[in-house]
Amino acid sequence: MLNIILFGAPGSGKGTQSAYISKEYGLHHLSTGEVLRAEIATGSALGKKIDALISKGNLVPDDMMLGVIENYIANLPKECKGTIFDGYPRTVAQAEAFTNLLKKYQMSALMIDLMVDEQLLIQRLVDRGKVSGRADDTLNTIRHRIAVYHTQTEPVAEYYLHQGNYFAINGNYSADDVFPQIKRIVDRFALNK
Ligand code: AP5
Ligand code: MG
Repeated sequence: MLNIILFGAPGSGKGTQSAYISKEYGLHHLSTGEVLRAEIATGSALGKKIDALISKGNLVPDDMMLGVIENYIANLPKECKGTIFDGYPRTVAQAEAFTNLLKKYQMSALMIDLMVDEQLLIQRLVDRGKVSGRADDTLNTIRHRIAVYHTQTEPVAEYYLHQGNYFAINGNYSADDVFPQIKRIVDRFALNK
């Protein structure tokens, strides 16, 4: 089973590259942001709590995210070739819990980190904000999301670097030019397994 953690700041291209990877390798795509936005769309009490956090650019609690991931992994169909985890783990506590969870199912994951310059991140998200309807795609919230990324999420890269299954790529190019870099890493990893 090939599990990929697609890591990177808001706007780094996690969702875009997940679509390319999923098509190329037939992997499932789990975007925790999409899962949370789907819950908000139901209008449930839980969705309202999540909305209050996401729309300000803050993370939802670790235990809630772990519940989502546990539920996902416990219900994976037998024929699943692997998953792209887009937006998880996002804190060191999530990374530690994820390692334990994968171990329980005798699975592992590699991390691919999409490195993109901050000005470009902001530009991409401001541009998307004109059409996306995402509550968190406004300039102030974009800036806050990036700050949250630096303080709470970036240390997760270090965690995977120490584990030896971390790969960084330059995500500043066009989406078509970023994907071949990912493909090289995934092909090499799959070959050595
Ligand atoms: P999430 O939905 O994951 O948002 P994000 O991390 O802020 O990232 P985005 O989805 O905005 O960007 P992306 O990296 O997917 O880039 P994309 O391909 O879309 O999370 C939202 C919120 O949910 C979080 O803030 C948090 O509150 C909560 N949450 C989620 N997971 C959580 C967790 N594990 N724990 C706690 N809370 C959690 O591209 C962006 C734009 O750029 C698009 O318009 C795209 O077309 C364009 N683009 C992409 N690639 C390129 C390229 N190479 N060149 C030019 N344009 C490009
Ligand atoms: Mg995304």
